[in-house]
Amino acid sequence: DSKYLTPTPPMGWNSWNAFEKDIDENKIKEIADIMVSSGMREAGYKYLVLDDAWMAADRNEKGQLVADSIKFPGGMKAIGDYIHSKGLKYGIYECRGDKTCQNLPGSFEHEQTDMNSFAEWGVDYIKLDACFARKNGRLSSEDFDVYHQAILQTGRPMILSISDFGSGAWAWGGKNYGQLWRTSMDIYPRIQSVYRCAETSGGDGAIHPAFKGLWQFAGPDSWNDPDMLQVGNLKSTVEDKVHFSLWSILAAPIMAGNDLRSMSKEIKDILLAKEVIAVNQDPRAHQGYQVYDKDSLEIYNKPLSDGTTAVLLLNKGQKKSDLTVNWEQIGLSGPQNVRDLWLEKDLGTFNGSFTAKNLGKHEHLLLKIGTVGSTIVPGPTPIPEEKYTV
Ligand code: GLA
Repeated sequence: DSKYLTPTPPMGWNSWNAFEKDIDENKIKEIADIMVSSGMREAGYKYLVLDDAWMAADRNEKGQLVADSIKFPGGMKAIGDYIHSKGLKYGIYECRGDKTCQNLPGSFEHEQTDMNSFAEWGVDYIKLDACFARKNGRLSSEDFDVYHQAILQTGRPMILSISDFGSGAWAWGGKNYGQLWRTSMDIYPRIQSVYRCAETSGGDGAIHPAFKGLWQFAGPDSWNDPDMLQVGNLKSTVEDKVHFSLWSILAAPIMAGNDLRSMSKEIKDILLAKEVIAVNQDPRAHQGYQVYDKDSLEIYNKPLSDGTTAVLLLNKGQKKSDLTVNWEQIGLSGPQNVRDLWLEKDLGTFNGSFTAKNLGKHEHLLLKIGTVGSTIVPGPTPIPEEKYTV
């Protein structure tokens, strides 16, 4: 038994990117069934999270949240029981403002009541948003502490996903209150939005100095969250794959956001890519970070527990280019084995560097470099001089 709720980044599926407000009992049950039949559950996707708009517009006479009776006629405990019966874990959305982002009842001044309801329904994971929270007069940290205490009070372990990008949870010790926190604006099904979310979470601070070196805050029960996946919702599988590789190397929560009922074989293969997932779920729990960023060519590095390191070589630009990673950039030296994690194939032994030839627009390679069990352990990761504090 781990002392952590989520020693590696949480994996699952969330309803928002696929359905927005248009969720109901039948759809959620179908999704739960497919999470099992597709092999996703076995691959590690265990949380099924119901995002905004599951609740009725009014609380009951006891002041408790209730299900939207048209969408969820069986109520919120019943849908949770179904999810659990499939061997999955149950996630739910709320907001610390007086309303959710969709103008439904928020938890402000109902914190303990709502956490009690969630515990009674068997909830395992709470995504707590921040719309309308500014006016309640509390600092974000004070506010999340209220929820943290209320969750402890219920006696049920529930992950708290701090869905609040504006407040910089990493800097005020978000890990004392929750297990993950948003580090980006909302993700949209466009590759530039994917890149921007990744850049804020693992970039070099070029977008804003507040986001420099965020990777230092990542670890067990302490994850930077560049938002949920748009894999399957992008323009091409080239884009879907680079999105998945970025989230993998960033040790980002892997919350699928596509309609699993209509997913193609190609998309399923991306979501199930074993060696790519293994990088994300590596027990060393390091977040990858940029070691090179020039002329739309980028290199990310993520030291792994077995003495090797995962390396992403990415071309965000328009023209075909070669891209070389030098061993000094990734804490290695001498001859090293190079493996392609999408092809699941060793490419050979390379001395001092490796060059990806002719990378096209949005193309990338995700590699594992080094010898398993080698005495050369890549890292320690360089600590940037500046660290954002509030
Ligand atoms: C915010 C969040 C999204 C989603 C919606 C729901 O925009 O960032 O992920 O939960 O609210 O209203």
